[in-house]
Amino acid sequence: SHNVVIFSQRRYGKTSLIKKVLHLATLEGFLTIYTDIYHILTEEDLVKAYAKALASTMEGSIEKIFQTLKTIFSSLRPKITVDADGKPEFTFGVESGRDPIMDLEEVLESVKKYADKKGVKAAVVLDEFQQIGQLQQAHRIESIIRSQIQSHRDISYIFMGSKKHLIFDMFSDPTRPLYGSGKMLPLEKIAPKHLKAFIFNRFHLTRKHIPKEVASRLVDVCESHPYYTQYVSHSLWEVTPFNSSITDIDLENYG
Ligand SMILES: Nc1ncnc2c1ncn2[C@@H]1O[C@H](COP(=O)(O)OP(=O)(O)O)[C@@H](O)[C@H]1O
Ligand SMILES: [Mg+2]
Repeated sequence: SHNVVIFSQRRYGKTSLIKKVLHLATLEGFLTIYTDIYHILTEEDLVKAYAKALASTMEGSIEKIFQTLKTIFSSLRPKITVDADGKPEFTFGVESGRDPIMDLEEVLESVKKYADKKGVKAAVVLDEFQQIGQLQQAHRIESIIRSQIQSHRDISYIFMGSKKHLIFDMFSDPTRPLYGSGKMLPLEKIAPKHLKAFIFNRFHLTRKHIPKEVASRLVDVCESHPYYTQYVSHSLWEVTPFNSSITDIDLENYG
């Protein structure tokens, strides 16, 4: 399958990893779309988040993107608003009373049409995808997604999740619509030797020194959890003056 399901605990590095991968895919000419749906509460939120993610990958002037959006969506209405930093951004209005699942179908189709029109392959990431299972119409949403993605040969869908059993069930329970729709890829912790080398090099590159044994102990103390390892490393890095070395004592005090 060209669709994958990547899951692990929170803060193991999924989002960082996939953003790197999408960057590389962009360089190879892929249309890449990243949507984080952690905060969605309703079906409508999902539609808007996905439409916005598509809009944010489009290139050209605001006016040109606005026109493109108007032609690719038939029922969603794009609007230009200004975000907190004064930057223009697109938001989407829906027709009142319309079934949000129809809108979802439309957005999924629109991404496909847009990629086809540009003649490119696409990679679509739906991060924190397990949140879909919490929506009222979860079953219908999962069904629409399944029937849509089956016909999208030139799009790879990457479903990511932090609540392992929730996302696992969505794709491996035979009674669920998305059963078997993606290759399951559990993301394990980064191997300790890579984290140790990473810390050592980062200190070195910034004119600070960490003895290999200290880097090694640091990773062990954090049980190679990517987030905590970074957190502790950063605290130690901050207290170490340039051109000097941290010691075991520093690790005791700040770790
Ligand atoms: N390749 C890596 N090397 C070192 N640290 C990493 C790496 N990837 C992620 N991290 C650390 O782990 C933290 C959590 O990563 P994130 O991508 O947000 O995880 P997730 O999406 O799984 O919750 C990051 O803020 C970073 O500090
Ligand atoms: Mg994440």
